Amino acid sequence: MIIGSVSEDKSTEKRVAITPEIIKKYKSLGMSICINQGYAKHIGLSDNDYKQEGVEILKNENEVISKSNLIVQLGIPNDQILSSIKSDQTIIGVLNPYANQAKIENLNKRNINCFSLELLPRITRAQSMDILSSQANLAGYKAVIDSFSLFEKAIPMMMTAAGTISAAKVLVVGAGVAGLQAIATAKRMGAIVYATDVRVASKEQVESLGGKFLIVEGSENLETEGGYAKETSSDFKIKQEELLKETLKKIDIVICTALIPGKKAPLIIKKDMIDVMQNGSVIYDLAALQGGNSEMTKVDELVDYNGVKIFGDKNILNKLPVSSSNLYAKNMFNFVSNLYDTKAKKISINLEDEIIEKTKVK
Ligand code: NAI
Repeated sequence: MIIGSVSEDKSTEKRVAITPEIIKKYKSLGMSICINQGYAKHIGLSDNDYKQEGVEILKNENEVISKSNLIVQLGIPNDQILSSIKSDQTIIGVLNPYANQAKIENLNKRNINCFSLELLPRITRAQSMDILSSQANLAGYKAVIDSFSLFEKAIPMMMTAAGTISAAKVLVVGAGVAGLQAIATAKRMGAIVYATDVRVASKEQVESLGGKFLIVEGSENLETEGGYAKETSSDFKIKQEELLKETLKKIDIVICTALIPGKKAPLIIKKDMIDVMQNGSVIYDLAALQGGNSEMTKVDELVDYNGVKIFGDKNILNKLPVSSSNLYAKNMFNFVSNLYDTKAKKISINLEDEIIEKTKVK
């Protein structure tokens, strides 16, 4: 069983699917690994770092594809690579089947097995493979670090001989995986943290991290069976706006993380709400790529709106490529080992396994 991975399009994706620290685990299952030359050089991982772990370094991407039984990636590869994948080979990544429907159909027609990890069910057994959680955790952390560096005042309360500096006030909108990590990080750095979410279940988690939960009246029944948020009614939106508009007057930094799976991100922080914020405040919008939680967000552009700085990355994980690759590579290994039949020494696509069934892209 040979696992291969080829360079991603580095202009949009700096992460890699195999890092040196995961190789031993693949080897312990009896697998061999190959990558192309210069695979992760851009994030400080040399070919030699991989070679030392016993990885075969091949001249180019095409050699890797033709040698591998299983190809592990971040994004869907380019058309040239896709066309060289052969029948019965398997590709695993974040294939974004909705945006790449025609490509996936073509792969399926050619009997290539496709698995997309963002479709993993959020069940306990899949936690070690859950790329959405591992990456959202890092995104939540990094959003706090970056927003704090955009903020031109100190974060913690400081009592000095020259006087006292009061602690910065942070509001986290959406207390899912990214939001909870943002709360924990902001607390550790000394901020006073508020958070809100449509899922009342998150109140306890916010409070256990030392955050103050802002509950919007009428938040009942806004959680799906799978634990995700539902879209809110216009009545709820008005109540949420009233609550947040009042709160934002005293907030220094807003971290937006609210998402609804498969839909545009909910618009929560409207222009008139930003109008009440103080000069020098910062809004960091992690939902930027999905349309943004703030009305003024522009992807990858620092907006200055009446002295309030608003920013949202296209791919914040590109700013932490080594940590995010390491976690992604571990998630990927755990997924592959669940798919692998150690006795038969090949992958076994058991569609009765919910993890395999839900991630297999048809
Ligand atoms: P997500 O990325 O889809 O959304 C982020 C947060 O935004 C969610 O907490 C959501 O409720 C909130 N949100 C959506 N619309 C909003 C609005 N209009 N106003 C305020 N907040 C809004 O969610 P994520 O982080 O992927 O987590 C989803 C669920 O999955 C959570 O219940 C989490 O605990 C659960 N989960 C379960 C795992 C498991 O293995 N059992 C692993 C990871 C997450």
